[in-house]
Amino acid sequence: MKTLVIGTGGREHALVRALALDPGVDEVHAAPGNPGMVALATLHDVDPMDGAQVADLAERLGVDLVVVGPEAPLVAGVADAVTARGIAVFGPTGAAAQLEGSKAFAKEVMTAAHVPTARSFVCTDEDEAERALTELGPPYVVKDDGLAAGKGVVVTLDHDEALAHATSCERVVIEEFLDGPEVSLFAITDGTTVYPLLPAQDFKRIGDGDAGPNTGGMGAYTPLPWVPADLVAEVLATVLKPTVDEMAKRGTPFAGLLYAGLALTSRGVRVVEFNARFGDPETQPLLALLDAPLSPLLLGAATGTLADVPAPTWKPGSAVAVVMASRGYPESSSSGDVITGVDAAEAHEGVHVIHAGTALRGDDLVTAGGRVLAVIATGDSAAAARDAAYAGVADIDFPGAQHRTDIASGI
Ligand code: AMP
Ligand code: GLY
Repeated sequence: MKTLVIGTGGREHALVRALALDPGVDEVHAAPGNPGMVALATLHDVDPMDGAQVADLAERLGVDLVVVGPEAPLVAGVADAVTARGIAVFGPTGAAAQLEGSKAFAKEVMTAAHVPTARSFVCTDEDEAERALTELGPPYVVKDDGLAAGKGVVVTLDHDEALAHATSCERVVIEEFLDGPEVSLFAITDGTTVYPLLPAQDFKRIGDGDAGPNTGGMGAYTPLPWVPADLVAEVLATVLKPTVDEMAKRGTPFAGLLYAGLALTSRGVRVVEFNARFGDPETQPLLALLDAPLSPLLLGAATGTLADVPAPTWKPGSAVAVVMASRGYPESSSSGDVITGVDAAEAHEGVHVIHAGTALRGDDLVTAGGRVLAVIATGDSAAAARDAAYAGVADIDFPGAQHRTDIASGI
């Protein structure tokens, strides 16, 4: 089978790697791709937001499956453009990707499907926002309705800051504050059958102990030994299946990766958000533990035949990802800093490196973005995987490199 992965980030590198390791896959292509994929895939220079360009490339290469990684092309309908050429695509239609593209839409679907989530108000002007903030009280949670690359949510005790964020956005969702730890639970679905993956946790803040501003994600690990044993079954029954069924009922079936961001609150599980794609960096440790070929799952989801594919199975042990970011991240980022030590890091048992913001300058690997790369390790326990990942991190160097030191600690 020939596959084409669309995107440039760590998630896409992890997908390319899993497909390259899949015995059923003969060719992996990626567009635009990143330097980490060069040894695994043929890279093509295509605008991932341009559905016609992506579909042309898929047709020209004669691929059997296209995987669209990031949310922006999905919301823009790139999967629809590929489907229109009769090519199987893993990733929801633009209409179904609205589960991520509009927080107000996601809330509407959750209400209709009786999915547990924070009480919320959709507000389009200052008066509405003021009323919602007064009704819900602090801590205030104000979310830009649209895609905001992880920057759209303000959680604050400061009423004026909350109101200022609300008025700076065209439309916001203001919702009740959810306490408790956050868990990411992903599911692969063809619109009917739903296969949950392992629960994972993502570390969103830049600093140790969850200090400082939100980022795209500074690390992740899976599985989570501390979650209730029945969590996956409960979320499948109360969140994932009802949402997939509701989307089908509306005539906009959701096929692809449904990402439930959950809070385990004192009053039970609540959905914080849905995403319409593999999450980053949780995907990196999840795929490191996947003990099944990836392509049948993705193709089954893409073609409505997931029930014919065995549910995914997992290697024993744990996987941990530690992200290394460039100087200035997340407020800014630094490009062109020379990265050393990737081969040394990968020489450790069970360690591999996934690229995100890297570029080649001559023979040098250099930084080219905020989150530069992630060191992924597997091990018999979370502690063993963590130690191996940090041993890899210690080998890698570039000017201004930042990483958290507490990913998966104390597990
Ligand atoms: P989102 O983009 O919806 O995932 O929000 C980004 C982050 O903001 C989440 O991962 C949470 O840490 C935080 N957050 C979002 N909604 C809430 C909420 N209702 N209560 C508390 N924290 C929240
Ligand atoms: N891990 C957060 C995200 O992918 O949105």
